[in-house]
Amino acid sequence: MDIETPGASALPNDLDAFWMPFTPNRHFKQDPRIVVRAKDMHYFKPDGTAVLDGTAGLWCSNAGHCRAPIVEAIQAQAAELDFAPTFQFSHPKTFELANRLTEMAPAGLEHVFFCNSGSEAVDSALKMALAYHRLNGEASRTRFIGRARGYHGTGFGGISVGGISGNRKFYGALLPGVDHLPDTYNRDEQAFSRGEPAWGAHLADELENIVALHDASTIAAVIVEPMAGSTGVLPPPQGYLKRLAAICKRHGILLIFDEVITAFGRLGYATAAERFDVTPDLMAFAKGVTGGTVPLGGVLVSKGIFDMFQDDERPDHVIDLFHGYTYSGHPLAMAAALATLNLYRDEGLFEQARANEDAMADAAHSLKDHPLVLDIRTIGLVAAFDLVGIKDQPGKRGYEVMCRAFHDENIMIRVTADTIALSPPLIATQADLEEMIAKFRRVLDAVA
Ligand SMILES: Cc1ncc(COP(=O)(O)O)c(C=O)c1O
Repeated sequence: MDIETPGASALPNDLDAFWMPFTPNRHFKQDPRIVVRAKDMHYFKPDGTAVLDGTAGLWCSNAGHCRAPIVEAIQAQAAELDFAPTFQFSHPKTFELANRLTEMAPAGLEHVFFCNSGSEAVDSALKMALAYHRLNGEASRTRFIGRARGYHGTGFGGISVGGISGNRKFYGALLPGVDHLPDTYNRDEQAFSRGEPAWGAHLADELENIVALHDASTIAAVIVEPMAGSTGVLPPPQGYLKRLAAICKRHGILLIFDEVITAFGRLGYATAAERFDVTPDLMAFAKGVTGGTVPLGGVLVSKGIFDMFQDDERPDHVIDLFHGYTYSGHPLAMAAALATLNLYRDEGLFEQARANEDAMADAAHSLKDHPLVLDIRTIGLVAAFDLVGIKDQPGKRGYEVMCRAFHDENIMIRVTADTIALSPPLIATQADLEEMIAKFRRVLDAVA
């Protein structure tokens, strides 16, 4: 690919000081995978080589990279209003963005709280659930129900409700009283699924058993990703989310959707709630809201929950929610999000993702008979591949495939243990999708 290369920065000599997140640091420093620039569907290595972005960065660059309208909006905002506090003060774009988001969200989610990341969004939603019940006279509702194989970021709340032992075991006892639903994956019943697997709605009924064990009066909320992303892409079984929502409602338990990955077009709709026709009480979002350009997270909140915090009898000077972040509603994040949402709308990117769902699935499932592939799951603009592992070394195969993909085939892919996830920017054309799978196939051939 032709590129103008100015700015291709030289690699610093010493990579030691940066303690990289979720990375085997020692090996990375021996074998770095560095990009210096990005445009649309591609990153660029220091030598100018284009790298196809098969992961939308980290599930966030949904509009593609360095899109001019977003870049210009951020630049203009930085020059006009660099920061304004939102504790007791604010600036216009906070309200503008909140209104845009509530217009896009399912009916009933009428308020928005801003933070900086998915982890903060999750912890904010959990705290709102606790405070809601307390204000509602049910202070005994303090228990959260997460799900095995759930990922809800890395705050103490998020790892407590999350269902990944590696993220939990180092950090002590975590939030008290959390319980977990079983995950929704069963290879024998669901192998090579396209969209929502037919088998598994009954797994939602496990919530009834959990309620029977703990009693509904102790349970504040259930939190799930509508499609589990980080643990290897587990699309919800047909009817599962509706069943879960009905059980929550029956027992006065709040339902929190963690849509940090699924919102903003990943499944072909503004939200997974819209796609699956299930409206939660609280929805955590982040990532795609700014196309990854400026950190931003948030929680969409139902009218009923918000109203519980608004007490007409309370004196004017008393705060309603004792929670917030210095950068809640940061001007750069607001400007970036508004420009990104405009781009999604003007270019019809959610619709494009929906239209490309079959092409993505066809391309991905063409690897079905590859000797290294155990299962493939596709939904929206996402595909996951479970690979045959290396004996007694879980994760080694996936890691090797990810490294080789970057070095040999110039494609960025996402690895979780021995599962590879592909989730390209929504601007991907069918040709991009086919190229992505062709590159991935060559990597698999090379390591098989
Ligand atoms: C479903 C989900 N929730 C929360 C998070 C945490 O988001 P962040 O890394 O922005 O804190 C992620 C990140 O991948 C996620 O996938």
